[in-house]
Amino acid sequence: MTARTFDFAPVLSAGLPPPAAKWTGAPSFNFTGGNNDPDRVPIDGLLAAADAVLRREGRTLATYGLASGPQGYRALREFLATKLKRDAGISCAFDDILIVSGSLQALDLVNGVLLTRGDTVIIEQDTYQGALTRLARLRVNAVGIPLDRDGMRMDALAAELATLQRRNIRPKYIYTIPTVQNPTSTIMPEHRRLDLIRLSEEYGVPIFEDDCYADLTWEGRRPPALYAMSETGGVIHIGSFSKSIAPALRVGYVVARWEVLSRMLALKTDAGSGALEQMVLAEFCAPHFGEHVPKLRSALRGKVEALMEALDEQFGTAAEFTDPQGGIFLWVKLPDSVDILRLYRVALEAGVAINPGPEWSTNVAHSRSRMRLCFASPSKDEIRRGVALLAEVCRTEFGVPARIANVERRAKA
Ligand SMILES: Cc1ncc(COP(=O)(O)O)c(C=O)c1O
Repeated sequence: MTARTFDFAPVLSAGLPPPAAKWTGAPSFNFTGGNNDPDRVPIDGLLAAADAVLRREGRTLATYGLASGPQGYRALREFLATKLKRDAGISCAFDDILIVSGSLQALDLVNGVLLTRGDTVIIEQDTYQGALTRLARLRVNAVGIPLDRDGMRMDALAAELATLQRRNIRPKYIYTIPTVQNPTSTIMPEHRRLDLIRLSEEYGVPIFEDDCYADLTWEGRRPPALYAMSETGGVIHIGSFSKSIAPALRVGYVVARWEVLSRMLALKTDAGSGALEQMVLAEFCAPHFGEHVPKLRSALRGKVEALMEALDEQFGTAAEFTDPQGGIFLWVKLPDSVDILRLYRVALEAGVAINPGPEWSTNVAHSRSRMRLCFASPSKDEIRRGVALLAEVCRTEFGVPARIANVERRAKA
């Protein structure tokens, strides 16, 4: 008798997203995702931290939530309270912080607490794909506000809030990545942050501040967090160790008033985020975060310089971009004739992975020739070779750039 394969299709839940694609291995040149620099993971420091903390406190692993309760490992929250005060001007107690499984879980929890199908939220026009896909899945209307070199434009935000009010629509939040925005890498200056807070208060719309790149400004300085500047407490602040230490650890955090945090905690039904990661991070970060991050920043700065040089050399004036103010991404505009979604497909076949603009924007027309390049994980050599290959593929497909490395070539007929 031959066994038939069980068919799960009839029992699947209604309304599931499309199935995930099977991972087929990393491309040769990977400019996608929010990955970090493999050479800057502080391996020795993490090893020593793991050894020390496990010997001292390993017995607490026998208890869900360690000996710290459901909000996360207390020493990590204490480190964060000190760090957020020093770097972002945030005055909070360790008990105002909830540790989560990467800031993606924070996005889910904030959305879970605030959003219902049919709601409207305001976001930056070009923004984090993970935020956009979640909103689409929740059937929430995401209204994009254009950005300039200082981040979200306040004239456009004011106009949109007024329009929505006239239509009796009160958005549920204004989502912003004000400090090293993804994908544009802009930093919103303090005066604009004040305008944003004023508008949020005038219209009664809370701010959802996603600050996961805030440690990666080139100068190591940043404006105060919106959370710190708000006098009414109408800001929810989230952050992450993914960009400052390593994304695979999956450790992020939320800072919010108990009124909101208690609601999130009630939705966080996973019995706590991974404890070992929290313990190792706390043990490593308390003494070493301050010396680790500048080394990471300068490695990233070196890589973005290599990327900008490679783009200049290979694409010439066909690739437009602004020198980013920090972070791990370059947001690049190619000529209008380049359909970036097509470039994405052919480049991937050739072994170069890019993030196509339309997946990172609410505005299809604006983003159809734009791409986001992550420069943190490839080596400088891979950056150079990857950009050369991308230019070759782009020229073959679109006749752009007409000249590569100052050598004129014929475009595909
Ligand atoms: C703006 C933004 N928010 C949140 C995340 C999620 O990060 P993680 O879940 O690794 O903390 C990312 C990741 O790239 C991001 O770019």
